[in-house]
Amino acid sequence: MFDVILVAFIVFLACHWYCDYRSSNLPPGPPSLPLIGHLPLLDQDPRAQFVTWRRQYGDVFSLYLGSRLVVVLNGYDVIKDALVKHADIFSVRPKMFITDLITQRGIVFNSGPSWKEQRKVSIQILRSLGMGRQRFADNMLAEVSEFVKAVGKKQGQATDLSKVIIVSMSNNICSVIFGRRFDYDFPNFLRYLDLIQENFHHLRSTNLVNYLPWLRFLPGDLFKAKKILHNVQEMNKCFLIPQIQRHIDNQNGGDDTDNEESDDFISAYLKQIRKEKATGNAPSTVNEENLLWVVSDLFVAGTETLTSTLLWIILYLIHNPKVQDKCFKEISDVIGRTSPPSLRHRQDMTYVQATILETLRIADVGGMGLQHGVLRTAEFRGCTIPRDAIVLPILHSALHDSAVWGDPENFRPERFLDSAGGLVKKAEFIPFSLGRRQCPGEGIARQQLFFYVTSLIQHFRFLPAEDGQLPSLDGIQGFTFSPAPFCLRAVPRDDQA
Ligand code: HEM
Repeated sequence: MFDVILVAFIVFLACHWYCDYRSSNLPPGPPSLPLIGHLPLLDQDPRAQFVTWRRQYGDVFSLYLGSRLVVVLNGYDVIKDALVKHADIFSVRPKMFITDLITQRGIVFNSGPSWKEQRKVSIQILRSLGMGRQRFADNMLAEVSEFVKAVGKKQGQATDLSKVIIVSMSNNICSVIFGRRFDYDFPNFLRYLDLIQENFHHLRSTNLVNYLPWLRFLPGDLFKAKKILHNVQEMNKCFLIPQIQRHIDNQNGGDDTDNEESDDFISAYLKQIRKEKATGNAPSTVNEENLLWVVSDLFVAGTETLTSTLLWIILYLIHNPKVQDKCFKEISDVIGRTSPPSLRHRQDMTYVQATILETLRIADVGGMGLQHGVLRTAEFRGCTIPRDAIVLPILHSALHDSAVWGDPENFRPERFLDSAGGLVKKAEFIPFSLGRRQCPGEGIARQQLFFYVTSLIQHFRFLPAEDGQLPSLDGIQGFTFSPAPFCLRAVPRDDQA
């Protein structure tokens, strides 16, 4: 009897699903299975499958991940149409089980007036700290110099540089946010970075709970949601909260008066809190709770993306020794063999810059984009997008569009140079996304990558771990698209004939 009821229930759901799917004005898409939708058709990196569906169903198509409708946006024109022309509709984040569990504050997963205020204040503070100017650059260069020393200690032996890179990349964010860097073996700092990595790893399985919400009621912690939450609490308690508290104590102790120029993000944000309180305006979201989440967002968003990008750059340099030679020649001509790079060198080093841009394009670390949502049910390009849909702007579809780039799968920095060697700007180059959610760290990222790439190539030649055995160009799709772990040799230039 129970079997009959179960079968009848499943048939009912299937019919309901099918009718619902066909009758509405949703963007077209492939047929789906009841309850699980298209989940079985997608692997860890769904980009190839998306290319096939784009060909079949057009630039805007839809699919079901479990019970969630996902609208996939492809190509520069469509993405710009949504994120720029219809920014009022498409600039929110969708409600998701796991992100709502961890945080609904700060910037990355926040929406509405609170997101607007946090983003605005954060960008203002980053500018006031000198983002893109020499003062900012000097701190970065001090860290680059430590990094070059750390790579030099490997003495050209085969090694995996990912750990050193992640520590160095986050140290730059530490300088901006806390006004200090940490030694490469400072325990709480390393623990914090390990927890970030662990959470990114778990997020892959937890993602399933976003799409099949009933899974959360299963006993135990099969999908690691509780573990992720626990890690976030530990990260805040052991590392971020003590740093914020140190600033509060300093200010209370009179170390940091309102007349002084703030030299790190937390001090500047705390001053902003005091200003808001003093003006007595309408309740502001600039408060200590949001400070914690903003700091955490900047830290996580800035560390992972830059680490993946730098690893990709090194990987492509190993695969393309001629590009490496050309970069080295330009660096030697413009800066010399020993002096550190500075901001003013950038305009004369278009080949190095083109190499960075080409890696950002081809490797496409954020190419699956962060998920967007819609403010309300909306008509877009002749289709209806319901209020609870997830919207995925696929940046990869613009960065790898053969109509724009000709041979998108080839690594060719020259595509960013004109016949006079000047840099070419292309609208379709959108690794930092578009519109109101466009990455606020773009300026920092570009500057940081320039300093690291220039200094690394100036001091080392990158070779495969074993002669003739090139590391794989396969990537792993997680929060970012990062290279599979690989070893290399960073041979000091002085040691070479
Ligand atoms: C190569 C480096 C980087 C790449 C490729 C990158 C890319 C992106 C992308 C694609 C987004 C999603 C935009 C959207 O939702 O449409 C994003 C958001 C964001 N990024 Fe970056 N990013 C990088 C570095 C950084 C750095 C260094 C920081 C901070 C210091 C940062 C902070 C953020 C924040 C806070 C957001 C959320 C913005 C919002 O929701 O309003 N990113 N980034």
